[in-house]
Amino acid sequence: MADLVFSNMFHALASALDQEGECSENIARVGADALRRHAESSCPAEKTSLATGEEIFSLLQSPKALPCAVEITPYMDHLSWHYSGYEDGGISADVALRMQTVELIGADGMIDDPTCRVGLFAQTANTDYIIRTHSAEELFVQIAGEAEWYKQGTPYTMRHPGDRMHHASYQPHASRTINSGLLAVWVWAGDLAYENYNYQG
Ligand SMILES: [Fe+2]
Repeated sequence: MADLVFSNMFHALASALDQEGECSENIARVGADALRRHAESSCPAEKTSLATGEEIFSLLQSPKALPCAVEITPYMDHLSWHYSGYEDGGISADVALRMQTVELIGADGMIDDPTCRVGLFAQTANTDYIIRTHSAEELFVQIAGEAEWYKQGTPYTMRHPGDRMHHASYQPHASRTINSGLLAVWVWAGDLAYENYNYQG
């Protein structure tokens, strides 16, 4: 397959980050700027087929999904998806194999960029992603599905498409799904080291 260019998807994800939530986070601007900066960058097409993919694909068709879901759909099978926390053994297989993530932009991303990381994260229904911390500041914007999110100081709260979850550096946070899966765009800014990623529980 020819190289991929994500122009429409990157502009749509940048617009999702730009929407002002309960606070206007600088990290949203960092992520949106990176997406627009790389809107015409190309990378080799991947061919991934994870067991979780079919459920996540159906989430994108949900009428409540953000408009950017339409722009993600054509690329779903051509992103460098992997199971969160599986390869490094940080999360037990029964949980890790129920979630998938891709780093679109970043030092380990499909498109190289040293200034931040931007990606997609998905969690299938009935999955409890244990509490985690990391050095990077983080923003999630929920694109599709329903999920309960926790962060230190805020109990588990049901979040919907368009909701924004902002985590300060090293602030413990978690996500769990019940009847629905979850898809979100994420941005990391600040200290981007994966070595400082810790799981608790
Ligand atoms: Fe996180």
